[in-house]
Amino acid sequence: MSIRIDLKSAVLALSDALDLVGVNDFQHGKRVAVMAREVGLALGLPRDRLDDLFCAGLLHDIGVSCTTEQQRLAWEWEWAGKDAHCRRGHHLLRPFGHLSRLAETVRYHHTPWTELPDFLSEAEAVQGNLVLLADRVDALLIRQGLDNPLALREGICAEVAATADRVLAPEVFAAFRAVAAREAFWIGLAPRHVLRYLADMALPDWRVTIDFPQFHPVARLVSSIVDAKSPFTASHSMGVAKLARHLGERLGLPEESVVQVEIAGLMHDVGKLCVPDEIVEKPARLTATEFSVMERHSFETFQILRHIPGMETIAEWAAFHHEALNGRGYPFRHAADRLRPEARIVAVADVFQALCQHRPYRGAHPPEEIPRLLEGFVARGVLDGDLVALAGEDLDASWRAATQAG
Ligand SMILES: [Fe+2]
Ligand SMILES: [Fe+2]
Ligand SMILES: [Fe+2]
Repeated sequence: MSIRIDLKSAVLALSDALDLVGVNDFQHGKRVAVMAREVGLALGLPRDRLDDLFCAGLLHDIGVSCTTEQQRLAWEWEWAGKDAHCRRGHHLLRPFGHLSRLAETVRYHHTPWTELPDFLSEAEAVQGNLVLLADRVDALLIRQGLDNPLALREGICAEVAATADRVLAPEVFAAFRAVAAREAFWIGLAPRHVLRYLADMALPDWRVTIDFPQFHPVARLVSSIVDAKSPFTASHSMGVAKLARHLGERLGLPEESVVQVEIAGLMHDVGKLCVPDEIVEKPARLTATEFSVMERHSFETFQILRHIPGMETIAEWAAFHHEALNGRGYPFRHAADRLRPEARIVAVADVFQALCQHRPYRGAHPPEEIPRLLEGFVARGVLDGDLVALAGEDLDASWRAATQAG
């Protein structure tokens, strides 16, 4: 049975993943989507364009994986490095059929109206400008605290007005002023209202079903966002996926499961987007508190993936990669009886790949050391001995799969 996935659910899940990068400012992408759409409605944009605008708002920061970059974007409006994530986002979205229609909006969401290139269509220019406006308003909200956005209305409107003639299209600014006059616009930015707004969005054009050959690039997109988080983990998810596929094939799993276990490998660390860079890159042992933050990541992976209909099983294989056969892993403390071969494969591939990489607190291990180190995990009741033996039997091929991911 081949897996079919609804693109709307995938976009919402991707937005949940991106919102994690805000660490303490959850829902940035969602608020930007809501605000841009509200102003777009006031401008009289047609429904299909409003839907695209909404999705562009959700995914506008798809080029940001580092928590420090996210912070600078929120706090330094004129930051010289701000364009890099627009270019990265554009590059990530361009290749995907349906998502590619958001690429230009994302590319120009930090470019002032008067500096937009001529080749953009009117629609692309206005959409980019609406996301810019919403992003700016949300940055001002984040800086002052999100407890009571309505109380901040006047100050924010004054800040927006101060640069409007250069930054905003005249009609976008006029529509914003009309929308901002409504109390409901500001009150509606509270988390529970934003979630209701999202739930109410039908997004009919985005209810397209994609099956596995098409879903693979979406999973790769997720993995490249996660892997970009830190130079230490570059290509980690890609390597885990390749090695998981390799082990699945060697174990004789049906092709269907092999493809799915590869997808689980690509997405297993998506929850890591919520871990601050300074913890991921700490060149020393984590304190107990820091470790408790790090331990959240596989739970977050589970929450994000299981909400995509059709992905429930893959969500388990991906999210159980720190569980142990002896039941002492995290975060669910599942033991051997709950850990399917595919989940065990992802766990072995995760440790194997990590051992191949340089980490802030240690160097990379050469391939010949890896079987012995993995055996230690088997002896402690963490990893599956048969799978570790399988990985060691053709060490060269396993090592190549884990490290030459591309
Ligand atoms: Fe943003
Ligand atoms: Fe992990
Ligand atoms: Fe991992």
